[in-house]
Amino acid sequence: MSETIYIETYGCQMNFADSEVVASILSEAGYTIGKSLDEADYVLINTCAIRDNAEQRVRHRVRELRAQQNRRRMRIGILGCMAERLQSRLMEEEDNVSFVCGPDAYRRLPVLLQQVKEGMQAADVELSSSETYDDIEPVRLASNGISAYISIMRGCQNYCSYCVVPYTRGRERSRNPLTIVSEATALFEKGYREVTLLGQNVNSYTWPDTTFPQLMMKVADISPLLRVRFATSHPKDLSDDLLYAMASYPNICKCIHLPVQSGSNRMLKAMNRKYTVEWYLDRVAAIRRILPECSITTDVIAGFSGETLEDHQATLDLFSSVRYDYAYMFKYSQREGTYAARHLPDDIADEEKTRRLNEIIALQGKIALENNTHEIGREYEVLVEGESHRSPKQLFGRNSQNKVVVFDRLDATPGSYRNVKIKDCTAATLLGELV
Ligand code: SAH
Ligand code: SF4
Ligand code: F3S
Repeated sequence: MSETIYIETYGCQMNFADSEVVASILSEAGYTIGKSLDEADYVLINTCAIRDNAEQRVRHRVRELRAQQNRRRMRIGILGCMAERLQSRLMEEEDNVSFVCGPDAYRRLPVLLQQVKEGMQAADVELSSSETYDDIEPVRLASNGISAYISIMRGCQNYCSYCVVPYTRGRERSRNPLTIVSEATALFEKGYREVTLLGQNVNSYTWPDTTFPQLMMKVADISPLLRVRFATSHPKDLSDDLLYAMASYPNICKCIHLPVQSGSNRMLKAMNRKYTVEWYLDRVAAIRRILPECSITTDVIAGFSGETLEDHQATLDLFSSVRYDYAYMFKYSQREGTYAARHLPDDIADEEKTRRLNEIIALQGKIALENNTHEIGREYEVLVEGESHRSPKQLFGRNSQNKVVVFDRLDATPGSYRNVKIKDCTAATLLGELV
């Protein structure tokens, strides 16, 4: 009987996409991919290192798993960004971990598992300048059969001063467009209706004769019934070309995630973001001009090194002027090895970071509710995804702008496109009726 693997995933969408690559590699190698922890011989935890609390969550989980390990043989391996950052130190600090494997070493997981089976501890954290896993067909793990991620590039070399990703993910590299289009085509033929093209900075996608906008159009050409999304765009290179490509295809979704990080030029400079507030606002104006229906979302960091009350106010002012549809909001967390950790003091007290963060959260909550209130009375095409957790009588889906829409089921079925008229809302959800 083959041994069973169970994969748990933390962190960003790229990690979820990677776990599907890992599942594919290990099932090819003869392992069974299990659906629960209970029968697992190996638990693989795919981890995130972006903030300290992301790492603490994983450490907590690893310690919690010890109870199961006391009852039966179950080995734990750490994959992903924490594995890359901490390497074998992680196995010293958490002594119930048997192996660590970095994000570019997944092809060698069968070798690592063999070593572990022979009683060794094992580590492979080598980064690669060429690995894109482009020939591997991911095993769709948590899939609803409707929406899937496709990784189109890996790595980041922007070196924002606070960020650990360039150290955990290595150099930027793009994937062969032919393999991207064939993966998307195969998904469409299996009944999928939405793909999200993933990269730390999709606008840096580069391949001879294929720019990112061209790649996106090739994917959109597969079928008008296939929705195409992408994430993330770095504001420094969000081009008008991309916006025009989006405008020319109804099935390229009108939603742009454009992380701003701060509304203060002084902070943006210290963060090494390579754009100014003025530049950012010009990009927002271009989106509003070329894609008036487009939603805009962002990431922001409160309490970065040296942030004054004036800098913080500048962030609040920027939020008021852009009026984001959604924002991921974080307290600054100093990361070992980054430029900021080496040269910029972590000098805002934790309570003050929390206070500033809460101010941003409160403002954004108010803006999101106002934005959604303006949607009442409008009609949207919604890709139906499944049952709403509010009630089994209701379904949910998303519109092109990526807003969740909940409505009474009637004759609608998951995987279909339906028009829904918006009748009510909360800050996070639109409530509507089938038309
Ligand atoms: N490549 C994407 C972001 C990836 S990380 C981009 O550049 O936009 C996701 C988000 O985590 C970042 O946008 C940032 O807001 C946040 N983040 C990164 N490092 C952080 C840190 N040290 N402390 C707090 N938040 C951080
Ligand atoms: Fe981190 Fe900056 Fe790269 Fe985004 S662009 S992953 S924030 S270094
Ligand atoms: Fe986290 Fe690594 Fe993604 S640090 S955000 S899992 S690239």
